[in-house]
Amino acid sequence: MTDTLTPVLTANWADDRAWTLDAYTARGGYRGLEKSLTMDPDAIIEEVKDAGLRGRGGAGFPTGMKWGFIPQDNPNPKYLVVNADESEPGTCKDIPLMMANPHVLIEGVIIASRAIRAHTAFIYVRGEVLHVIRRLRAAVREAYDAGHLGRDIHGSGYDLDLIVHAGAGAYICGEETALLDSLEGRRGQPRLRPPFPAVAGLYASPTVVNNVESVASVPGIIAGGADWFASMGTEKSKGHGIFSLSGHVAKPGQYEAPLGITLRELLDLGGGMRPGSELKFWTPGGSSTPLLTAEHLDVPLDFEGVGAAGSMLGTRALQIFDQTTSVVRCVLRWTEFYKHESCGKCTPCREGTWWLVQTLRRIDEGQGQPGDIELLLDLCDNILGRAFCALGDGATSPITSAIQYFREEFEAGMTTPSRDLFPPAASTLF
Ligand code: NAI
Repeated sequence: MTDTLTPVLTANWADDRAWTLDAYTARGGYRGLEKSLTMDPDAIIEEVKDAGLRGRGGAGFPTGMKWGFIPQDNPNPKYLVVNADESEPGTCKDIPLMMANPHVLIEGVIIASRAIRAHTAFIYVRGEVLHVIRRLRAAVREAYDAGHLGRDIHGSGYDLDLIVHAGAGAYICGEETALLDSLEGRRGQPRLRPPFPAVAGLYASPTVVNNVESVASVPGIIAGGADWFASMGTEKSKGHGIFSLSGHVAKPGQYEAPLGITLRELLDLGGGMRPGSELKFWTPGGSSTPLLTAEHLDVPLDFEGVGAAGSMLGTRALQIFDQTTSVVRCVLRWTEFYKHESCGKCTPCREGTWWLVQTLRRIDEGQGQPGDIELLLDLCDNILGRAFCALGDGATSPITSAIQYFREEFEAGMTTPSRDLFPPAASTLF
């Protein structure tokens, strides 16, 4: 099965000091930049469009199209902002990528910035991951010293400054407009869209906000060509992607594979479930995506396949849970997270997540009341599509899907605590 892996971004993770400029260059790094400097900026955008790269942050919006939205007749400066605020529960692809291979991201930033005619770019990183911030800053210094950044890059006449900015550790700042508010020095809260950042983003200027993995995929597309990238994946979900496997699996970690691979194949690559574990439920893209079950083992993990199964590909954070896991307790944990991280700007999310936690907590404690399942569904109905941003919608996904597949566990919570049905000691996770 190992031939289904397509190590591109992860190819050098095991190399000695992979994160250094020397190691990256020795592997052919910065060749994409060299080539891109000979290309017209619009031709770079066309190449990325032809490759079919879709945003790797979760939503899957076509990257080249987003770049093409930047209005070049707008006199304001243009900005590229890399969203490195990875914090979706279960998602752990961008942080290891930046630790192991910061230069592929920096190379992608330079190519993308030139394509959209930006002269200032930012990487907005979670404040907690100090080790990543240090590594990125060291790599940026190396890139300046090598002439990849700064004035007149390699005699091309193109100037670019790249700033690594540390956030303060709020999940909401991964929402692109809250991120921009935070970058401007304000409390991070989402802005009304439209206007989208492409039209009015950082300092009300045209801004591309792209996920780390999206930008890091660009050097390969330029160096290898759009056809090479598009030869991987499925018709509408092209290329490679990093899948993060966690939970009751034998070998958790990051697996880079073409989009469209199935969980069954990934589990084979990951050594299967842990001994004694049977698959009970899983998330395809972090806790904001509806749960799936063992009946979905052969669903193609691409935007269309997962969508058709009633969920979303999201961040490809595959969290795997076995028969010892209480779905009620698991969903409660996630909902507590959303309640804590709700920015408070809109009522459905601020109040709704609080009520969801109260209701789930009493079901978890075996003190559910008649009508609590309907109450949960009603609360979710009042949040979904009514919250200001995707945080509220995401909070409802695990709850409604858990009730759809495991209603009996919620019903059991009217009389029996989850800890009696699923003793924590029996689970290696909770
Ligand atoms: P979205 O679909 O509203 O937008 C996606 C991107 O396309 C944005 O950059 C947006 O500006 C752009 N866009 C969409 N329509 C546009 C238009 N007409 N003109 C110009 N630009 C346009 O999705 P959203 O709300 O930005 O993100 C939701 C996703 O985030 C979810 O799918 C979820 O999987 C993911 N997510 C990721 C997390 C992480 O840690 N990586 C955390 C939480 C959620």
